[in-house]
Amino acid sequence: MCGIVAYLGQKRALPILLEGLKRLEYRGYDSAGVSLYKDGEVLTSKTKGRISELEKLTSKNKTDATMGIGHTRWATHGKPNEINSHPHTDFSNKITLVHNGIIENYTTLKKWLVSKGVEFKSDTDSEVIVNLIGYLYSGYDSDCEIPDTQDKFEWAVQRALNKLIGSYGLAIICSDYPDSIICARKGSPLILGVGDNEYIIASDASAIVEHTKQAIYLSDNEMAIINRDGFKTLTIDNIEITKDLKDIEFSLEEIELSSYDHYMLKEIFEQPEALERCFGGRVQLGESKIVLGGITDMARKLTRAKKIIITGCGTAWHAGLIGEYMLEQLARIPTEVEYASEFRYRNPIIEDGTVVIAVSQSGETADTLAAIEMAKERGAIVLGLVNVVGSTISRMTDAGIYLRVGPEIGVASTKAFTAQVAVLAMLAIELGRRRHLSNLEAASLLKELDSIPDKTRSILKQSEHIKTIAEENYEQNNWLFMGRGFNYPTALEGALKLKEISYIHAEGLAAAEMKHGPIALITNGTPAVFIATLGSHYEKIISNIEEVRARGGKTIVIATEGDENIKAFADHLISIPDVPDSLQPLLAVVPLQLLAYHSALLRGLDVDKPRNLAKSVTVE
Ligand code: M6R
Repeated sequence: MCGIVAYLGQKRALPILLEGLKRLEYRGYDSAGVSLYKDGEVLTSKTKGRISELEKLTSKNKTDATMGIGHTRWATHGKPNEINSHPHTDFSNKITLVHNGIIENYTTLKKWLVSKGVEFKSDTDSEVIVNLIGYLYSGYDSDCEIPDTQDKFEWAVQRALNKLIGSYGLAIICSDYPDSIICARKGSPLILGVGDNEYIIASDASAIVEHTKQAIYLSDNEMAIINRDGFKTLTIDNIEITKDLKDIEFSLEEIELSSYDHYMLKEIFEQPEALERCFGGRVQLGESKIVLGGITDMARKLTRAKKIIITGCGTAWHAGLIGEYMLEQLARIPTEVEYASEFRYRNPIIEDGTVVIAVSQSGETADTLAAIEMAKERGAIVLGLVNVVGSTISRMTDAGIYLRVGPEIGVASTKAFTAQVAVLAMLAIELGRRRHLSNLEAASLLKELDSIPDKTRSILKQSEHIKTIAEENYEQNNWLFMGRGFNYPTALEGALKLKEISYIHAEGLAAAEMKHGPIALITNGTPAVFIATLGSHYEKIISNIEEVRARGGKTIVIATEGDENIKAFADHLISIPDVPDSLQPLLAVVPLQLLAYHSALLRGLDVDKPRNLAKSVTVE
């Protein structure tokens, strides 16, 4: 949450910072700001609201400054207003910074600084960092000498960072250092793009790729000091380190909207190709096997796993829940699914033979990172299912499988979800094949898996039909989503999609649970979305549909193509192609994504930037 960007080069910094912030806006969008350095002065502009507001504010700024820092905020400490927005400048007016993360000991540090006479302007934890650096820089910390080998700015930053508890991605400038930006990271992502005589620092590669495809991914407790004649990387304890330049593996086109109105719609429609990429080279129909390159070295350990724990948050957790059903049914490995935020604070039983699978689109979710750390401390093998290449989770896990769906920018996760489920399906089928599935069963599942992209294409053709269903129901403020078996998590995901972008209250349920309480919510016209595809739960879910209809609920039914019987039970019907139970979520979720999308649009909402949310939740 929060996006930071910084530039040092030959071009005008302002348009580059604004463009970078627009690319990072999905990380937070309640306020924004930039600071530009020119001739010994730092000029800061900041405002409540989106980057478009900042653009308006800076539209008359013609400065040719070639160095600056910028920030788009998702408020943690202090309301979204101009004072709390970044960049923040210290009491001495020399140091200015942007921060992404949370400083946990900020109250203690603030009290200490206030006791020394430092005045604060904002309610943020970030201002503590800038004032701490400023305090040290101004020479007040007399008990510690600046070593000859270090300049004062670098020294003050390092010393301050060593006093912080919490997480940060930082870009810092000092008015005494015309050509220098210091950036540092702990727990919040930070990438240094290295171009031709220019550097661009950002929270993620989308703000960099337009300028260069070469980047350095900073790890925790590392910093970079960038000057016009080069840069150096070091730890916050002042040990110089060498970092490899890595290629940014996606193109500018992938992060553009092209002909779509919204990223969410683009990403929903990208699913067939995204899944083809995800399966490409992995699903080997000829040999009836699945090759997952990233985990070859641990394949034996996985096959012999005594227990698998899947962890993640939000949509990734829903994918994990489907993974549990798949791994238990197809591979017969006992599997549990845990919210990362709960897992990290429990005392889970992790014994020899326990494999933990962390699922995350961004690879930066704070709770998932903490869960991985805990699992590793307890000796578990940790496998990452991640989309963003080079992200923290991809680097801290023992092995991993990339989703390969390209950048996902819409805050509501869509193509990452289907790919997470697809990867879990591949894993379950392959482990099953190695353990007990017959060759025939495995071969048939592989063929079915391979058919998913085309079947998804056929569902997408129903977008207009799904829009008409949304038109009839979008004004209803309470919806239920129900499924059984593999489609219970699909129902949870459908409800989450609707509530996060349309602000409609929605509940996902295992359909049989309805009569244990939630049925009380059903009144005349309550939309009840059922996933009632042919398969082992078909008859049972028909009874649940009847129960809703008897109470006046309006049924929106996702059914299997060619199922004539279901028509009598559906006020609205959406048909999807037939696949085995275990693969149904891959298809059934697509109409639910479209239903949420169209409903939110009809309510006049910004589907890509829903209120209060941010794409990657890098704070606890
Ligand atoms: O990047 P991650 O997959 O770790 O993110 C986890 C959740 O924050 C995320 O899935 C969230 O629930 C989405 N906004 C749902 O659409």
